[in-house]
Amino acid sequence: AKVSLTGIKPTGEPHLGNLIGAIRPALQLAEQYDSVYFIADYHALTTVRDPELLRHYSRSVAATWVAAGLDPTRTTFYVQSDVPEIFELNWVLSCVTGKGLMNRAHAYKAARDRNVEAGEEPDAGVNMGLYNYPILMAVDILIMESDVVPVGKDQVQHVEYAADIAGSFNHLYGKSYSFKVPKAIIPDAGTGHTLPGLDGRKMSKSYDNTIPLFLPENKLKKLVRRIPTDSTPVEDPKDPDSSSVFQILEQFAPASAADIVADTRKRLEAGGMGWGELKNVLFEVLNTELGPLRERYDALMEPGSELDTMLAEGAEKARERAGRVLGSVRKAIGVGK
Ligand code: TYM
Repeated sequence: AKVSLTGIKPTGEPHLGNLIGAIRPALQLAEQYDSVYFIADYHALTTVRDPELLRHYSRSVAATWVAAGLDPTRTTFYVQSDVPEIFELNWVLSCVTGKGLMNRAHAYKAARDRNVEAGEEPDAGVNMGLYNYPILMAVDILIMESDVVPVGKDQVQHVEYAADIAGSFNHLYGKSYSFKVPKAIIPDAGTGHTLPGLDGRKMSKSYDNTIPLFLPENKLKKLVRRIPTDSTPVEDPKDPDSSSVFQILEQFAPASAADIVADTRKRLEAGGMGWGELKNVLFEVLNTELGPLRERYDALMEPGSELDTMLAEGAEKARERAGRVLGSVRKAIGVGK
């Protein structure tokens, strides 16, 4: 079967953007593909410096995958740092990657632009982990022989880089071993929009505008109230598609809530529905759907839960897959016996 792979970086509490942009589409692909899903803890190390927090976030992302429905008997499910083969291949691929390619990477360029704008040295605060980030991500993808990589729009360049790097390697060593060339799959929850956050910009940990998945009810309610709206009076018609609240509702709502979404759209367009009421609808839909997930999540987060066994078994499966590819690569490049 073809391989679908994706990873999530444990840099904060999992949020709605991760669920809608990555976890749900990945779980859907797991029905037909040989699926490989992991927690990218070494990628998080470029920014998370607190060891307790890194451990907590890694566990929290893992628990989220399982609470959302990942079946570890069907998916190869692991923590990146448990697979040392990845870090050996990281060196090999950095030796076939042009420095210029890394200079052009969006995340690195954005950091430089921010520095220049602030009148600082262009590379101030940029560590080599951030600079080399796309190479490690290429390894994640290539070492598992991925065909498709379901990711949000912000990660597409990284998948293209992985394809580029595979090309460089294949050009040099293709007679002996060739990497599969991966493709990004961008889910848009059917709406063509990126999920907006609490301030209307893209929901992202780096903008601090996320709706975390497993908040207590009262906190969830408070956050939903904070989503910005304009001052259109209650009785006036409104455009659902330019409202962050409606977009979140539309992208999040499961099939069972399709009627609620359609009805809400009609009522907004007709006038008579205020933003406050729309927010109540969003809160109810979120809470109904996330409640059961929260329960499973809390149980998995208990120390010594079954999550530990799942990840240990997953690491074993992942190392076996990675070891096969790394063995062929070592042979192809001329190291080892
Ligand atoms: P990360 O941890 O930032 O995000 C995980 C996934 O969630 C998607 N996402 C969103 N999608 C739609 N709307 C949003 N508001 C939103 N916010 C986040 C991201 O696009 C991503 O798919 N570098 C990766 C982690 C990684 C990886 C990999 C991914 C490491 N190795 C190999 C795929 C393959 C990252 O930082 O994702």
